[in-house]
Amino acid sequence: MKIFLDTADLGEIRRAAEAGLIDGITTNPSLVAKVAGDGDPRDLYLEICETVDGPVSAEVVAVDADRMVAEGTRLASIHDNIVVKVPLTEHGLRACRRLRAEGIRVNVTLCFSAPQALMAAKAGATYISPFVGRLDDIGHDGMGLIAEIRESYDQYGLETEILTASIRHTRHFVLAMRIGSDCATIPPKVLYQLMKHPLTDSGLAAFLKDWETIGREI
Ligand code: G3P
Repeated sequence: MKIFLDTADLGEIRRAAEAGLIDGITTNPSLVAKVAGDGDPRDLYLEICETVDGPVSAEVVAVDADRMVAEGTRLASIHDNIVVKVPLTEHGLRACRRLRAEGIRVNVTLCFSAPQALMAAKAGATYISPFVGRLDDIGHDGMGLIAEIRESYDQYGLETEILTASIRHTRHFVLAMRIGSDCATIPPKVLYQLMKHPLTDSGLAAFLKDWETIGREI
C-alpha cells in the first residue's frame, strides 16, 4: 500500500521524504492555507514536488467545470509530479473527464459513498479519496465504505486507485491495509505512530543495557 503524507508543511515533508517513508503527498485548500502565508501557493507546490519523488495532489478551488479545468491545467504545468484534485460534484466529474483526456492525473476528493466512487472511476479518476474520519465523525462506518469501494471496483475491473483519506489513527491505517486500499494518506502524527511499538522500545533498551556489560564498541 502506498503511503502519502497529508500535509503542506515543508518541514514535515522533508523529514519524511529524507527518511524514505512516503510515496507522495496530498494537500487540500485548508492544509495549504495553513502554511502558505503571503506566498504564492504555486511556489509551495513546486517546492513540495522538488522534495518528494512521487505524486503531489494539488486541489482546484473553482466550482464550475471550465474554471476547474483551467486551474487544473495551470496546476499540472507546475511539475510532472502534480496530480490535480477535484471535488466529487457534477462539475468535478466533468472536469475530471476533460483533464484525463489531456493526460493529466486526477484525484477525485470528498468521496463519502460507493456510488460516488463508481462515478469517479467512470469519469477516469486516477485516484478516489474517500474520507473515513469524517464519516466516523457523524456516526457512519468510514472503513466500511473502503470495503464497499474495494469490492465494487474489483467486481467491475475498475483501475482507479483507492486513496483512503481523513485517516485519524493507526487503526484506520491497519484496516485500510487489510481491505486492500491502494494508498492511504496520513497526517505526520500518524506516520510516526505507525512505526512505534512499546515492545520495540523496551526490547532495544534491554539489548543496549546488556551490551554495556561487555563494554565493547562495534
Ligand atoms: O486531505 C484530505 C483528508 O485527508 C482530510 O482529512 O482530517 O481534514 O478529515 P481531515
